[in-house]
Amino acid sequence: MTTIVKNISELVGVTAPDVLRRQGTEMSDVGLVRHAYLLIEDDRIAGYGSMTAMPQEADCVIDAKDCVVMPSFCDSHTHIVYAGQRDGEFIDKINGLSYEEIAARGGGILCSSDHLHATSEDELFAQSLSRVREMVAAGTGAIEIKSGYGLNPADELKMLRVIRRLREATPALIRSTFLGAHAIGRGYTHEGYVDSVIREMLPAVAAEGLADFVDVFCDEGFFTVADTDRILTAAHALGIRPKIHANELAVSGGVQVGVKHGALSVDHLERTTDAEIEALRGSTTMPTMLPGSSFFLGLPYGRAKDFVAAGLGVALASDYNPGSSPSGDMRFVMAMGCIRMRLTPEQALNACTLNSAYAMGVSDEVGSIAVGKRANVIVTSQPTLGRITYLHHTPFIAQHIVGGRVVSA
Ligand code: NIG
Ligand code: FE
Repeated sequence: MTTIVKNISELVGVTAPDVLRRQGTEMSDVGLVRHAYLLIEDDRIAGYGSMTAMPQEADCVIDAKDCVVMPSFCDSHTHIVYAGQRDGEFIDKINGLSYEEIAARGGGILCSSDHLHATSEDELFAQSLSRVREMVAAGTGAIEIKSGYGLNPADELKMLRVIRRLREATPALIRSTFLGAHAIGRGYTHEGYVDSVIREMLPAVAAEGLADFVDVFCDEGFFTVADTDRILTAAHALGIRPKIHANELAVSGGVQVGVKHGALSVDHLERTTDAEIEALRGSTTMPTMLPGSSFFLGLPYGRAKDFVAAGLGVALASDYNPGSSPSGDMRFVMAMGCIRMRLTPEQALNACTLNSAYAMGVSDEVGSIAVGKRANVIVTSQPTLGRITYLHHTPFIAQHIVGGRVVSA
């Protein structure tokens, strides 16, 4: 089946198929084509160009009505497989408790772990699928999902099996990450838990092929650089590449240990010094910032501008989870990239599409308008990219096409 999207005011996010990320000054380039058409064949992007050269024949024609067409969002960092909610803690937070204080009282991640333990796999799948659908309706076409609320071998595997089922149940592209080292599970000592992650959980996850990546919450009060080093060494032996939670609560050393192990991304980065920027220079690691957590927890926003000025790329992701970012809306993430992090609309778009695709290892397949890539495309209702981020809460998705098919109107 062929589909033509016609009368596009600005076709943005256009790249050659082999451009896998954008860094430094490249982040201002969105490959803009004005007065354009886009051709989709089955589930793939087949061509694009000026309206004057538009092919005449297609099975389906969508009129973009002089509005922007852009790649679907890629969300490279989420925790959307969870059970229940944590709105009680929300009140504690309003009353002044910090994320660390809530965790120290046995709330936080451990509270979600208790809910998850008491929830069947089928029920967990149903709750998680509704979040996937909510995200797809908000323009996201690729989602990385982490485990990390199981915190024992059986429940971590339960989470990862749910992620495997989600892959089959949605047209969005899903990648999975084993985050056993998210908090110390109940009943374990710190050392005993790290040993279980390395000796029991990782081998079982690898044997079932359940994870594309491994993650560690390398931060004050959670896992040390030494723990992270051990876990990533074990994962490397099993051929699993890291993505790391780093520098959210403190300048943790997480960035450096991530880069040392060739992490695909280091995420959070609310607290970074110039040493982290130096460590990332020349690496294959994508710095990923999560403005939804900064917003919800009242933490500093990542130094995105400084990273870009240093020649680095930046990705943005939602961190959708029940404790620090209860929203998976990448429209808001992109707007905050502009409003709170002072990225230009062009830089924010690259951060939420191509660079976030890179940060979950799928930028050869999605994240830009490129011939041969999966047709994950948003037809908007605004005439310019700048207008989309400026009118930050005006709905702008007229149609969301995922894998060549319209999923929401
Ligand atoms: O990325 N910081 C660590 N993990 C999550 C929060 C998990 C939770 O509070 O449930 C995050 O913010
Ligand atoms: Fe996270």
